[in-house]
Amino acid sequence: MKNFLHQGDCLPFLESLPAARVDALITDPPYASGGLHIGSKNRSTSEKYQNNDTVRKYPEFTGDHRDQRAHLRWMTLWLSECLRVMKDGAPICLFTDWRQLPLTTDALQVAGFTWRGIAVWDKGEGVRPQMGRFRNQAEYIVWGSKGDMPLARDVGVLRGVYKEVVKQKDKFHITGKPTDLMRDLIKICTPGGLILDPFAGSGSTLLAAELEGYDWLGCELSEEYKTIALERLAQEH
Ligand SMILES: C[S@@+](CC[C@H](N)C(=O)[O-])C[C@H]1O[C@@H](n2cnc3c(N)ncnc32)[C@H](O)[C@@H]1O
Repeated sequence: MKNFLHQGDCLPFLESLPAARVDALITDPPYASGGLHIGSKNRSTSEKYQNNDTVRKYPEFTGDHRDQRAHLRWMTLWLSECLRVMKDGAPICLFTDWRQLPLTTDALQVAGFTWRGIAVWDKGEGVRPQMGRFRNQAEYIVWGSKGDMPLARDVGVLRGVYKEVVKQKDKFHITGKPTDLMRDLIKICTPGGLILDPFAGSGSTLLAAELEGYDWLGCELSEEYKTIALERLAQEH
């Protein structure tokens, strides 16, 4: 199975995939980050992540409400299935923010991956100003591999910091990632390999894979976002 986007919960989807098939896992799971207490965590995703000044409205998404213990357990569950479906030495990249950075590095390792580092996505000076505090202008890409990762993989040197501003015309999800950022990140995969994204959202990883000549496999719980992702992919053809 390749170049296919499944709609549904990623856990049964991952369980249905054969072992040792995938060349890279690149994904942006729900962060469960907005709000410190159960009441604030249970707010809608637009309340948590959409600034009041955002002109465009995006569909809501679910799976972003868990407290820290439940989120760690859930991350470990699906990551363990990802380990099974990945080839030995395959890289893994997980988006996260400053609040969930420690939990994400824990989950990656608990699931059995080797943690190798953190790359930075610098979103520019236009985001999240705070009087008297540091601006929250970065998100992070926790990365690692399934066991040993050979140096000779036909992959060049990748940057550790990516400066990429979110442009409205390139944003199709409340937490959508820029296409150019994804086009750079997926180059961690061996050329032409199969890239898996179990939380595809508006399809930014899948579209980037398509544009860069990789095979891809995706899963997305929301029917609305699956439709948006397929429309973006269709426009490329
Ligand atoms: C952070 S967003 C991904 C956004 C994506 N990177 C983009 O640029 O559009 C996470 C996505 O995971 C989906 N999701 C939440 N729980 C899920 C689950 N159990 N299985 C599959 N997808 C899920 C949500 O609907 C949401 O669209």
